[in-house]
Order: sequence, then C-alpha cells, then structure tokens
Amino acid sequence: LRRRRIFERCPMATQIEIVRTVADLRTRVRTWQREGENIAMVPTMGAIHKGHMSLVRQAKQLADHTIASIFVNPLQFGPGEDFEAYPRGEARDAALLADAGADLLFVPDGREMYPEGFATTVHVAGLTEGLCGASRPDHFDGVATVVAKLLLQCLPDIAVFGEKDYQQLLVIKRMVRDLNIPVEIVGGAIVREPDGLALSSRNTYLSSDERETAPLLHTTLQQAAHEVASGLALEPTLESAHAALEAAGFRVDYLEARDPVTLVPLSGNVSSARILVAAFLGKTRLIDNVTVPPQS
Ligand code: PAF
Repeated sequence: LRRRRIFERCPMATQIEIVRTVADLRTRVRTWQREGENIAMVPTMGAIHKGHMSLVRQAKQLADHTIASIFVNPLQFGPGEDFEAYPRGEARDAALLADAGADLLFVPDGREMYPEGFATTVHVAGLTEGLCGASRPDHFDGVATVVAKLLLQCLPDIAVFGEKDYQQLLVIKRMVRDLNIPVEIVGGAIVREPDGLALSSRNTYLSSDERETAPLLHTTLQQAAHEVASGLALEPTLESAHAALEAAGFRVDYLEARDPVTLVPLSGNVSSARILVAAFLGKTRLIDNVTVPPQS
C-alpha cells in the first residue's frame, strides 16, 4: 500500500517513483546502499529540458541509481525576480526525467525544505562575489544553502550540475570541499539548440524576435574565444564583443574572462580562460560561457 502511495502516474506514459519527504528519500537511498549500489543525484528546479536530461543520462553512466530532485528554491531568487513566474509542471517534468533514466524523483515542498524557524545560511566567500554574484547579491547563498541540504538529505556518491551555470558549479565544488560533504561533484557539458543558444528554462520567456536574436550570444562568445586563442589581447576583444551584443539589442550585465578554476579576472594575452556572459534580451536574463581555447 505504501509503495502504491509513493508511485504516482504521469500522463506521458512513463512512471517514476516520487518521494516527497527526507525520511522517504533516506529509506530508499539506504536500501540501495545496503545492497552495495552507488547513487548519483541531479538537483533541478524543474522546467526540465534536454540539458537536464543530458545530466541525468551522464549520471546514469556514473552510478547504479540516479535520483533527480525538483525544488524551485525561493532563497535563490531576489526581489522582483521570477520566482512566481518560474515554469512549473511536475507531471511533465517527471515523465521527461524518467525518460532520461532517473530511477527516483525527490520533490519536497517548501515546508519540508525550510521548516518553521529555519535559520541557517551557507555562504561561500570569494567565488560568489563577481559575475552573477554582483548583480544577484543573495543568489549564491540561496544556491549553496539548498544544495548543501539536498546533498546531506540524499548523501549520493556523485552529484551532476550543468556547466551553463559555471560560477554555480565552482561554488558548489568549493562548498563541498570546504564542508567535507562526501559527494563527488561532476560538471555536465552545456547542451545547445542547433543555432547555438544554450538550453535554459528561461528561454521560454523570449518573444519570437528575441529568440531569433538570442543565438548571437553564443556566436559572439565563440568569436571572442577564437580571437583570444589566436593571440589577441582580452581587453579589445571583449570590448568589441560587448559592443556587438549591445548593437544587436542585448543589455550586457557582464562579459568577462576569468581563470577557469579560480575565477580570478584575467587580462592581456592568455592561453586558457573561461569567457562568461550575462545579458538581458528584453526582460529575460540569459547566461552563457565558453572555453579558451574554444571547443569547436
Ligand atoms: O541550477 C539549478 O537548477 C539550481 O540552481 C539548483 C542547483 C537546482 C539549486 O536550486
């Protein structure tokens, strides 16, 4: 009977076991671990797309069982951001995660995650201070707090996070190292539309005109990466990339080259870097990043 209660039928054919409490999650995880099987976790905020599905497929390659979570985390949205509007659709998300191969879905509600009197914040200094941290001041505290909780609730062997949120990935790696959370953090490659636009749950906010312009973000980054790799200095390269984006209708929040491991700002001529951008198209804030030397 209990098993029937936690199995929920999804309208798109695929079934996945859904647990909603930390206690049920731990019971399930403990059973697998007692059988000597290892576990990978893919935390998400739902609005599942092919990028999340590729993280689940990657996780499946790395472990015996894959657990995905869906929780739209209020702590990582600032005032006036899109917490209320963030796309939600559990049945569709569950079916897509099951299709990608997830074995279990953890969907806590707000009270399960942040019970009355919740008073703890995880803050990762340094890495969170520039880039997205500059324009979204409490964002990474919200991310670090919820990810610390998810990892401690589940205690997977591995957790996979997308490289599109590159600063987030490094913040999570640092937090896990600093707090000795016994989980290996693995990055998943960015998945792009055929025209180069990085997949994001927020792409659904773009109007059709904005959607046509959006791939320029990646084209411009790739061109800058090629120029830097061929010996041009960062400053003039990023300046002309910035001007090209603004001329195309973007409002650039930041466009910077950083050390790929420490995120220290770089200047002059470099042979290795990550170029990161955040830019608004209308009201939609898009982020993306590429490597120097470029991957293609
Ligand atoms: O990248 C995301 O979707 C979220 O920031 C995460 C890691 C699930 C934490 O809420």
